Amino acid sequence: MSTEVILVDKNVNKEETYAQAVGIIRSGGIVAFPTETVYGLGADATNAEAVGKIFEAKGRPADNPLIVHVDSKEAAINYVDDVSDKALKLMDAFWPGALTLIMKSKPRIFAQNVTADLETVGIRVPNHPVALNLLKRVQLPIAAPSANTSGKPSPTLAEHVYHDMEQKIPLILDGGPTKIGIESTVLDMTSEPPVILRPGNVTKEQIENVIGTIRFSADLHGNVPKSPGMKYTHYAPEAPVYLIEDDSKLIRKAIEHVQGKGKKVAVLSSTEYPEADFHFPLSPETLYSSLRKCDMTDADLILTGVPSERDDNDFMMNRLEKAADHKWFS
Ligand code: TXA
Ligand code: MG
Repeated sequence: MSTEVILVDKNVNKEETYAQAVGIIRSGGIVAFPTETVYGLGADATNAEAVGKIFEAKGRPADNPLIVHVDSKEAAINYVDDVSDKALKLMDAFWPGALTLIMKSKPRIFAQNVTADLETVGIRVPNHPVALNLLKRVQLPIAAPSANTSGKPSPTLAEHVYHDMEQKIPLILDGGPTKIGIESTVLDMTSEPPVILRPGNVTKEQIENVIGTIRFSADLHGNVPKSPGMKYTHYAPEAPVYLIEDDSKLIRKAIEHVQGKGKKVAVLSSTEYPEADFHFPLSPETLYSSLRKCDMTDADLILTGVPSERDDNDFMMNRLEKAADHKWFS
């Protein structure tokens, strides 16, 4: 299968473009599209065969459920049971936006493989004109995980999607770089108080300002995860990634040590290290593309500088810990 990439940010062929994407999704195919967080790989969430193609293209384990994207709060409410007042308040406050709500799914609406046989479903309204245009035209809920090969860094550019999905999907809508760069906050509304399963751009404090106290999942610290996706290796480039405290003396010493063994080192940090073999910037917007750039070098080891003061809201640290499999350089 050849993979077509269509630029949509300059409104080129707008109607035609969307018609093509809508046609593919309605006939059970998959289309990659931009959201404000990362690019998604979308299929009709009511069609098990179509959803199966997403798992196949990504090489994603079947027990990891997908997020369903809809165009409005009203659409979301149609698909779930027992919507709490808190959930309604959060939809009003943060949608469209980077907050996924886990709620009880109405039976027999979504294909079983979307929810990995759970009784709950994760839903959000993405805040991106291309995603919203597509959703409004297709008039179906779209199941869409991040559009990367399973285990690799999420795509923040159409080029990243092309790299991972070439020959595997028919169409990529190119809306330019994604704004936020890190996946949505996932909040489980089926427990009381609600629980953050995955930290993201929408913070605990912002949510608490709307609905009062919530918790962070204990899984964030390596316990058996409730969010099935959290137990797998994630965001990892080829060379091993190590965390290191963002202290210039420590990092310089580490670079010297690695190079002393005849190996090449890439450093991801907010400040530059000219003595490193490769250096890439580290911020929420650049994290995934920097991890991907490491794969284009012959670095043997990747050091990521992280601040010594951290908290559970730190969604960049959460992703880095997974990319590094919690390894610290020593
Ligand atoms: O920003 C995002 O959320 C992006 C864009 C494309 O919308 N999507 C995304 O999807 O990150 P994905 O599939 O890569 O991550 C979904 C996360 C996984 O950790 C999954 O385990 C969790 O949400 N999840 C989905 N449904 C769930 C459910 N019913 N219960 C618990 N966790 C769920
Ligand atoms: Mg993902």
